[in-house]
Amino acid sequence: ATKQPAENSPVKESLAPVRGLQTGDHLTSGQGVRLPDTDHSLKAGPRGPALMEDFHLREKITHFDHERIPERVVHARGSGAYGTFTAYGTAASVTKAGFLAEKGRETEVFARFSTVLGSRGSADTVRDVRGFAVKFYTAEGNFDLVGNNMPVFFIQDAIKFPDIIHAAKWHPDREIPQAQTAHDTFWDFVSLHTEATHHVFWAMSDRGVPRSFRTMEGFGVHTFRLVNAAGETSLVKFHWKPAAGVHSLAWEETQLTAGVDPDFHRRDLADSIDAGLFYEYELGIQVMPDSADESFEGIDLLDPTKIVPEELAPVQPIGKLVLNRNPDNFHAETEQIAFHIGNLVPGIEVTNDPLLQGRLFSYLDTQLSRLGGPNFTQLPVNRPHAPVNDNFRDGMHQSVVHRGIAPYLPNSLAGEEGPVPAGLEDGGYVHLPKPVAGDKVRANPVSFADHHTQAALFYRSLSPLEQDHVAEAFTFELSKCYEQAIRVRMLGVLADVDAELTAKVAAGLGLPVPEGNPVPDVTPSPALAQITDRVWPVT
Ligand code: HEM
Repeated sequence: ATKQPAENSPVKESLAPVRGLQTGDHLTSGQGVRLPDTDHSLKAGPRGPALMEDFHLREKITHFDHERIPERVVHARGSGAYGTFTAYGTAASVTKAGFLAEKGRETEVFARFSTVLGSRGSADTVRDVRGFAVKFYTAEGNFDLVGNNMPVFFIQDAIKFPDIIHAAKWHPDREIPQAQTAHDTFWDFVSLHTEATHHVFWAMSDRGVPRSFRTMEGFGVHTFRLVNAAGETSLVKFHWKPAAGVHSLAWEETQLTAGVDPDFHRRDLADSIDAGLFYEYELGIQVMPDSADESFEGIDLLDPTKIVPEELAPVQPIGKLVLNRNPDNFHAETEQIAFHIGNLVPGIEVTNDPLLQGRLFSYLDTQLSRLGGPNFTQLPVNRPHAPVNDNFRDGMHQSVVHRGIAPYLPNSLAGEEGPVPAGLEDGGYVHLPKPVAGDKVRANPVSFADHHTQAALFYRSLSPLEQDHVAEAFTFELSKCYEQAIRVRMLGVLADVDAELTAKVAAGLGLPVPEGNPVPDVTPSPALAQITDRVWPVT
């Protein structure tokens, strides 16, 4: 276990000034009026009726009536913790972002882990993708690395996100979750939309049932563009490597824990931190040259359904994360935190990955309704630790009393209290001047077309036991479909990946083995196998 941040650490408990303890000599109303009795409503005689003039009854119940906010449209079930990220300084050659580049710099973070499909009250140990979202409160503003525990995604273009999520979430008529009941719509979608194949293999592997948030890798998935102090650029993929290694639950364990302790992962995170057994991860980057075709070793780096095998581009450690403090209030912190892939700091840029491009719109948009208007950046957990001077005004839940003249620019009337800092052009986030060109088309590049090779690479990199787990997962999940035609179609997809796996699943389902075009030999990638001692030596 690592110790809490030292007394003199720059990483302080940032929320200390806003903690409300709800203690005092007297109980009061929300208006501060002392209350002698909160057990009985004001009635016309002991047998009633209750009187409208009972402001305490009405205020108490009204506030209670509005305690809930909408859960996230995806990743509704999650839990989180604060921590400290310490940079090794090894990223200085590729990025000017101070929190990554400066050796020893400590930055406070909040990490939230989640399942994608279940509601807020669903069980932790279901088969699903896990979110791995980290907000870095850097001195240059907030940077959010909004990743998953799998390095690829089901779709290549964000315009398909509503489709995959509609297909995978609960039944619209019965609201029975898809997981572990009837899977027809999910398997219908992924068997028709074969760019999902690689991700489906990850989801059906042991990666879909992590043992703990402590034993998961995290991935930024997309390729990002880093910019160093000299203005040179590289293309990178972000990786979180757990110090405790990568470990999963056995399928039977997932079923038992979902019943016996549906909060299995959440409880372990909170209890471990309370016990001083902190979760630790190393942040690493795969660095690829910023080439004209944005490809590396034949892999299109804008395609979020593809990985770059670590043998081709090793993961280079750039810093360490220790999660060492539990939130005080689930609603105020874990529920109200708002991650956004567009929260970037100088030195980190996005690429034209069409999945990433759509995400840039989605997060802020959904948070406007989830968190009730445009001022959620003022919520304590979302406040940057850098000074904010944004010229925004008013709106629902505005909690700042802005002073001075209207915030418009240019402005010659502002005086000392005005909104205009000297020299807007000095420093700040300057977007790299990359040329943009092309005909307007609704199309993918040809280099996105191969949906099967990396699924085979992944499957054939696993140990025999892990491969058996994949076959068992496909068999179990497909056996839950009502429609035989969907099983048959999905077997056809598997047949275009690996013949041996297809035969196992077909046998399990009692169906004939379809003819396919399985991927010819690929060189397995040792880094993809999970139970072969995947322990990452954190520095
Ligand atoms: C939430 C990851 C793709 C829309 C999340 C969260 C994570 C995540 C980790 C939970 C954040 C939290 O803990 O609060 C990813 C990854 C993706 C991906 C890794 C692909 C590589 C997309 C796409 C869209 C999208 C394509 C939409 C076009 C959303 C929305 C939320 C969300 C609306 C809820 C945010 C909120 O209510 O605060 N995503 N996501 N995601 N994601 Fe994604």
